[in-house]
Amino acid sequence: MTSEPIRFTDGAGYDRFMGVWSRLAGQDFLDWIAPHHGQRWLDVGCGNGAFTQLIAERSAPLSLVGIDPSDSQLAFARQHPLLQSVEFINADAMALPFADASFDLAVMPLVIFFVPEPAQGVAEMARVVAPGGTVAAYAWDLEGGGYPYQGVNETLSAIGRPRPMPPSPETSRLEVLLDIWATAGLSDIQTREIAVERSFLGFDDVWNTLRGGPSIGQALAAMNEEERSRFHALLRASLQPAGSGPITLAGRAHAIRGTVPGP
Ligand SMILES: C[S@@+](CC[C@H](N)C(=O)[O-])C[C@H]1O[C@@H](n2cnc3c(N)ncnc32)[C@H](O)[C@@H]1O
Repeated sequence: MTSEPIRFTDGAGYDRFMGVWSRLAGQDFLDWIAPHHGQRWLDVGCGNGAFTQLIAERSAPLSLVGIDPSDSQLAFARQHPLLQSVEFINADAMALPFADASFDLAVMPLVIFFVPEPAQGVAEMARVVAPGGTVAAYAWDLEGGGYPYQGVNETLSAIGRPRPMPPSPETSRLEVLLDIWATAGLSDIQTREIAVERSFLGFDDVWNTLRGGPSIGQALAAMNEEERSRFHALLRASLQPAGSGPITLAGRAHAIRGTVPGP
């Protein structure tokens, strides 16, 4: 059984499911790319604006543009009080609707494995960033156990359900990222890991977070009541063997940055 494509249709559900994680990893990522204030930013695959908020809060951008192909995620982002001066555009990473050298930084937070041709997306970021500017991304280490809901996916497998996967999971490997950044002609390429933890109040908090989100939420919606009960019991036993109390999950992302060479 193959997993159905992951759909991003609910900004609030996404925020609880993944936006919180994106901001946790995004803080370290932003500190690492250490931008100056007053720069022109492009957030590629901005979704519901989860990471865009961090740029707005911490980096005092001169300008900030977010692009994403999901209208419902963009609608959620546009309503955020902190993001009223951000320009949100429905667009594809593989064909960015901007002139060459229009930005100082372009970032892809938790997006690269969703782009059907990741190398094309990174080449586009390198094209629209000015010489000396930064092209950077972070992505869960999907194949190395870094996805925060890895244990949930294993429980899906245990009941014979496919694990929801983005179209290019292999792109989260460090060697694949390094190859894509080098092929895009970027220089001074650096990588790092970002490890984060998130605490949930208890199993119900995890369960409701999963149900409202994309991917695993879609898998839960596709189950009948009996299958969902079996999955609920198995997941509870694996995440909360003591039967009650808070639950902490961990995630680990690969981050990469490179510089657009001068003329
Ligand atoms: C896991 S979400 C990340 C959203 C946001 N960057 C964050 O940090 O929370 C992945 C996003 O990639 C977007 N996406 C999928 N295919 C894309 C493409 N070809 N170009 C740009 N964005 C894409 C989805 O619509 C979704 O909003």
